[in-house]
Amino acid sequence: MKALITGITGFVGKHLEAFLQDKADVYGTSRVPRSQKHIYQLNLLSETESLKLIDNIKPTHIFHLAGLSNVKESWDDKVDFIEGNVIGTIHLLEAVRKVNDQIKVITVGSSEEYGILPEGVEKVREETPLQPINPYGISKSAISMLVKLYDKSYGLNVTHARPFNHIGPGQRLGFVTTDFAHQIALINKGLVKDCKINIGNLQIERDFTDVRDMVEAYYEIGRFGRAGEVYNVCSGRGVYIQDLLQILLSFSDKKIELVVDPNRMRVADIPRLVGDPGKMLDATGWKPKRKLEDTLRDIYNEWLN
Ligand code: GDD
Repeated sequence: MKALITGITGFVGKHLEAFLQDKADVYGTSRVPRSQKHIYQLNLLSETESLKLIDNIKPTHIFHLAGLSNVKESWDDKVDFIEGNVIGTIHLLEAVRKVNDQIKVITVGSSEEYGILPEGVEKVREETPLQPINPYGISKSAISMLVKLYDKSYGLNVTHARPFNHIGPGQRLGFVTTDFAHQIALINKGLVKDCKINIGNLQIERDFTDVRDMVEAYYEIGRFGRAGEVYNVCSGRGVYIQDLLQILLSFSDKKIELVVDPNRMRVADIPRLVGDPGKMLDATGWKPKRKLEDTLRDIYNEWLN
């Protein structure tokens, strides 16, 4: 495998690079220049740049991770999200179509594509209708539709991974586990004197996977994913944000008080998003290995140190 990872310096990109080290020749792209020789600067809003880069590297696989990922921020930067996620993907797919339509492309969507679930849906399957309720979810659902379009109309070898929440070391602030772990760590390091942390909505249920398991799933989709298909990548287990917070609080040596912060509430929030991982399991044999408690411990330790 000769892999090109767009967004290789991002949270997931770094983990995918590490995982592929002994499995592939790895190249990557970044928005800003980097000193490493295998990382190329790429503006995804230019089809010409994508075209030249793909023609130069000649990858067998492209893992398209570059894009904007923060749901809350998408309300403030609607245009950037549509541009970066949708237009960027179109340029990349056009470039692949023109340079070599046999390259395997793995696009990355989100469980946010499903949005509000129809009544009675317990675990979301790939054919559940897409009803996104925020600009980020809209941008990611557009990518999944583009995947079908490029498969049907041009016969491109492109497959869409639809990950549910993924967490782990290296994730920046602004996501639920980093926001909580960071504040708890500051208190335990004695850097914040009053033992209070800000929280948002705790009555939300999500399906969490360790990012290190997630990148293994992307690799498996790269090997076995069928063109034009979508694969949920998830654990199939729902966890309330409340329970996730309790685990993180159990790492604290100090007693912590919770303060509800209106700024952490969303314009709209999906109450429950738990996925059905069956299709992925059947197609690739993949299932997550890491325990949520261990992942949360790793995240907490990262902020503590
Ligand atoms: N960020 C954050 N901070 N979220 C909080 C907080 C807080 O202090 N308190 C409660 N929450 C709730 C949010 O309201 C949301 O319902 C849930 O925790 C998870 O929020 P995030 O961690 O910000 O993730 P997300 O679910 O919006 O999006 C993530 O998962 C998607 C897949 O489902 C991101 O990683 C996306 O890129 C990804 O596609």
